[in-house]
Amino acid sequence: MSKKILITRIIPAIAGDLLKQAGFDVTVWPSDKPMTKEELIEHTLQADALLSLGSNKLDRSFFETCKHLDIVSQFAVGYDNIDVAAATNFKIPVCNTPDVLSEATADVAFGLMINVSRKMFYHHKQILKDEWKQFEPLKNLGFELSGKTLGIFGLGRIGSIMAQRCKGAYGMDVIYHNRKRNPELETKTGARYVDFDTLLRESDVLSVHCALTPETRGLFDKQAFSKMKKTAVFINTARGGVHNETDLIEALQNKTIWGAGLDVTNPEPMRADNPLLEMPNVAVLPHIGSATIEARTGMARLAAENIISFYKTGKPVTIVNPEVLGS
Ligand code: GLV
Repeated sequence: MSKKILITRIIPAIAGDLLKQAGFDVTVWPSDKPMTKEELIEHTLQADALLSLGSNKLDRSFFETCKHLDIVSQFAVGYDNIDVAAATNFKIPVCNTPDVLSEATADVAFGLMINVSRKMFYHHKQILKDEWKQFEPLKNLGFELSGKTLGIFGLGRIGSIMAQRCKGAYGMDVIYHNRKRNPELETKTGARYVDFDTLLRESDVLSVHCALTPETRGLFDKQAFSKMKKTAVFINTARGGVHNETDLIEALQNKTIWGAGLDVTNPEPMRADNPLLEMPNVAVLPHIGSATIEARTGMARLAAENIISFYKTGKPVTIVNPEVLGS
């Protein structure tokens, strides 16, 4: 009997097509709303493998109920919605989709940086309100990025593309902080390793590209913002949980930092009455980092290939918990 694969949301058709061509029995949850916890469990109990999205909370109790699963293949690079330790307990491989969305996500970070430095969303809103009256020699000035210092928190795939973009376009000096130094990416990007406090102190633009973990949750808080330059811009395209949004609002209101560009918020979705949306030096996007045809197609393909490769060879292409595979 062919293995049953549940895809928890409608994603690019390539995923289902590849899985069907490989002989799997594929069910796609047909609604444009994420499955409830109950729906997820009910339908996962009928499946051998899950192709999940970030909106599915796969916690310990989920894995306790669905420990029969052969594999979880996530349609995202981030997997903070999954209790990987619990999956590992039950020897369930967890896969994600790195690389294929790195260019798209770095573009959003780069775009937010330019947008905030020139207050573009704010100016656009002024036109919509019919407030474009005349040339203003002294009002609403932004700043230029040439020669400024870019600080990367989390120099991985996306962070290093952002570093290369900023170096190439503006000759920015790039510094970074990671848990561990990455000599290979230092050579590739020319980024210089600094401790966290130096990153905060010296960055003109500080761009977050790390995973959300217990160590990074709420790391950018009142204390961190207070160490940054008054002229600095904070960019987050990683996970909203990495910054404390109340502290960020306060830091912007008190002019502790100059501006912020967010593709991820805390919580998500952000509500329309959030004070950040009224601030001239702030640009917010609704978590669209990977929203290109190329990235989403690549994610769907890789999520399917992880399942196919696992069943064919015992090894998925991109696995988060390789220890479950044994020797
Ligand atoms: C998107 O946020 C992802 O993790 O792929």
